Amino acid sequence: MRHLSSHPISTSRRRVIGVLAAGLLCTAGVAVPAAAQSPVPPPAAGAQAANGLALTPPMGFNNWNSTHCRADFNESMVKGIADIFVEKGLKDAGYEYVNLDDCWAKPERDADGKLQPDPVRFPDGIKAVADYVHAKGLKLGIYTSAGTRTCDSVGLPGALGHEFSDAQQFADWGVDYLKYDNCNNQGVDAKERYTTMRDALAATGRPIVYSICEWGENKPWEWAAGLGNLWRTTGDINDSWGSMLSIMKQNLPLAPAAGPGHWNDPDMLEVGNGGMTDTEYRTHFSMWSVMAAPLLIGADLRRATPETFDILSNEEVIAVDQDPLGKQGVVLSSDGGRWVVAKEMGDGSRAVALFNETGEAQRISTTAGAAGLPKASAYTVRDLWEHITRNTAGGLSATVPAHGTVLLRVAADSDATTHPPAVELAVAGSPLVEAGRTAPLTTSVTDLGRTSAVRVSAALTGPSGWRVKAGSATTATVLPTGRALTTRWQVTPPAGTAAGTYDLTLTAQYRSPAGERVRSSVLFRAHVVVAPPAGGGQLSDLPQLSASNGYGPVEKDTSNGESAAGDGKPLTIGGQVYAKGLGVHADSTVEYYAGGACSTVTAQVGVDDEKGDKGSVAFEIWADGTKAASTGVLTNAMAAQPLSADVSGARVVRLVVTDGGDGVDSDHADWADLRITC
Ligand code: GLA
Repeated sequence: MRHLSSHPISTSRRRVIGVLAAGLLCTAGVAVPAAAQSPVPPPAAGAQAANGLALTPPMGFNNWNSTHCRADFNESMVKGIADIFVEKGLKDAGYEYVNLDDCWAKPERDADGKLQPDPVRFPDGIKAVADYVHAKGLKLGIYTSAGTRTCDSVGLPGALGHEFSDAQQFADWGVDYLKYDNCNNQGVDAKERYTTMRDALAATGRPIVYSICEWGENKPWEWAAGLGNLWRTTGDINDSWGSMLSIMKQNLPLAPAAGPGHWNDPDMLEVGNGGMTDTEYRTHFSMWSVMAAPLLIGADLRRATPETFDILSNEEVIAVDQDPLGKQGVVLSSDGGRWVVAKEMGDGSRAVALFNETGEAQRISTTAGAAGLPKASAYTVRDLWEHITRNTAGGLSATVPAHGTVLLRVAADSDATTHPPAVELAVAGSPLVEAGRTAPLTTSVTDLGRTSAVRVSAALTGPSGWRVKAGSATTATVLPTGRALTTRWQVTPPAGTAAGTYDLTLTAQYRSPAGERVRSSVLFRAHVVVAPPAGGGQLSDLPQLSASNGYGPVEKDTSNGESAAGDGKPLTIGGQVYAKGLGVHADSTVEYYAGGACSTVTAQVGVDDEKGDKGSVAFEIWADGTKAASTGVLTNAMAAQPLSADVSGARVVRLVVTDGGDGVDSDHADWADLRITC
């Protein structure tokens, strides 16, 4: 990470995590929205920014996530993006702002104190780019810092002390949006710095969306509603599952602060940048929309895949984000990484996200009533990724693939039963199987609808060569409300199948009472596992069941280098170098198959020396669902600590590293000399 020294994020983040934990209350089994208890106060009436802009969350593009300050950030990129917005229908879908981030400027102001564009990147100047973008019916955004220099290591001129002249220069160029960063702020009070620029922008008389970017350090959700149109709530996102997840969790509890003209900003989109799967990017896009977050595309669209365009241009999901009521979704429940988040919509419907944080398919359930809808005999349920409408008697439930999100729009509706009934597909049993052996699996297809599902059939398919045999009925003539077709299966991967994860698909076909055909399927993972060798060994030599990591991949026998695989250094804690182990970055979870045959896991754990005096983490070892050992918070100043866990009988051993309560910056954690005894 680049900006560690200029991003002291700790205190505000610690508080936000506390709010999240405290915000999920249950009364007599009924989940109570976090918003009902949240200490984040809604902004005072009339707090909408005085400029009257951004009545729905801003949509557009910003180059930072794809280019940082590389040379490919230049005029031709910006124009290319504007062209694509028009050609590919993104402009029609609502994307409007084409925003320049850091590094557009020359290191020095001119003799009159004016900012100068970098002549290599922007040879025709910023006004020419603005004219080009405006001619396409789009708008231009720019970036500077509320400090003496911007955040880039070169440090380009910032606006502190130049607010009025810089704002006027932006207005003269035709700029429509300003992202105002926080680096090199000389310790001047944030509210004061951000107020001065607000006044400077207002003084130009030009409508300019004002994006406050102080990383949530001064809790802008408490004071910035009358100042800016949006404010960053966290440190920088990066293109990894761990980063996206951690930012989402910090932003969710801030729901009461968001509204038309004043939005929580969990940072720009990474969709399409390559570090996550398309399932994970759909989750990213779904959750940003349910959080009414700005949708600023961060991928270089000139090189984007068709799947990336499909995600970014899903107009039913965009409509959730852009709903005029402007409510941010609230968390109804999140136990076991099974999240239900509901967003009230202007037409009285609710967008409901069923989000699976875990590495396995999970059943996630709620009801129309819990999501805030009035009592009704039936509801329509629109699946915003499958683009299918069904009816439900009130239950909302799905088996959601690992890291996936099912995004629904639900409405009380007297005509609901004109749509086919919704069914829920579920898989019970743990699909961990050794090659050439047979594992049992049970599936069910349940009618959630007010009407019956008729001529129902279930099919289970695996990768080619796998044997999948039904041991009970796979069809039902009719399933009334609440009834299920349950099928037992035997699944056998061929002998010699390599250890790893494999996709199985459960598909149900059925008809509505009126004869309409419906097909519904869910993907889940089976793990082909290898029993650990007799006696055990170093875990870094054994195959992982799953791994997730804050930055870059989990490294074997080196520290975590934060980006590409293999970029770490020797594992080193308190000056001692270790040949074997895992190098991870908080938040991290790594799982191994122990097959019930092992007794202990031992390691020397600590923060790797490579981050100087920075970083603090805590380690946990889990045996199936039980925490078997843990450390307190360990810092870089400490020597390696021995950690030992009794994992007798566990099928799965899970190694967890958390951030020690102060955010993940510099949290390079080493599991040194990590052994399992079997
Ligand atoms: C900070 C911001 C980022 C980006 C960079 C540019 O880190 O939070 O979004 O603008 O600066 O240097």
